[in-house]
Amino acid sequence: MEMRGLEKWLLSSPAWAAFTRQVVVPRLWADADLPQRAKVLQLGCGAGGETEGLARRFSYWRVTATDYDPEMVALAGQRLAFLAERVRVERADATNLPYSDARFDLAVAIHVWHHVGDWRAATAEVHRVLRPGGGLLLADFVVPTWMARRFPRLAPPGTYTLPEVRTALSASGFMPYLRTGWGGMWYRVLARR
Ligand SMILES: C[S@@+](CC[C@H](N)C(=O)[O-])C[C@H]1O[C@@H](n2cnc3c(N)ncnc32)[C@H](O)[C@@H]1O
Repeated sequence: MEMRGLEKWLLSSPAWAAFTRQVVVPRLWADADLPQRAKVLQLGCGAGGETEGLARRFSYWRVTATDYDPEMVALAGQRLAFLAERVRVERADATNLPYSDARFDLAVAIHVWHHVGDWRAATAEVHRVLRPGGGLLLADFVVPTWMARRFPRLAPPGTYTLPEVRTALSASGFMPYLRTGWGGMWYRVLARR
C-alpha cells in the first residue's frame, strides 16, 4: 500500500535517509552473521537511504531494491544512481514478486510488513524467491499481544502480533530467530529458509 501525508513526507526527507543509513543499518544487524557476498532483494526500500547504507556496509552485495510506490522507486533511483553497478531499483509488490524461484541469497524488509496489507503472502513470496539456506532479515513494529486481545479495535490497520509473525514464518518454511524490544512493540528476525 502506498503511504500518504506526513509519513510519506518524512520517509522522503534527507533526515530520514541519513537516519536509516547511519543509525538503522549499522546497528540493526551488527551481531548477525551475514555473508559478505550475496544477491540481495530489498523490499520496501522507500527513498533509498537504507539501501545506500547497506550497499556501503557490504561492498560486494548485489542489491535489487524494490518498492510498491512509483514515487519511492523514482526517489531511490535518483539517490542510488551512483551505485548503478551494484544496486538496481525496481518497482515490485512484496505480495506478488516478479522474480523466479530461489533467485536471491538474502532478503531485507525493514519496517515494511505492516504496510503491505497481506504480509503473510509477502512472507511466503520471500520464501519462494530465496535459495535454500538463504536468509530473511525482517524488522517491524507489532501490536502487543495483550492489547490485540483486549482492545482489538485500537490496532492500526495492517498491524499484527509477534505470535502471528512467528507462526507465519514457520508456516512458510522459515526457521526464525526472533528478538524483541520496546516493550514487545518491535522485533527483528533473521530467518533461514
Ligand atoms: C515505512 S516505509 C520503510 C522504508 C524503508 N525500509 C525505511 O525503513 O526507511 C514502508 C515502505 O514500504 C513500501 N510498501 C508498502 N507496501 C508495499 C508492498 N506491497 N510491496 C513493496 N513495498 C511496499 C512503501 O511504499 C514504503 O516505501
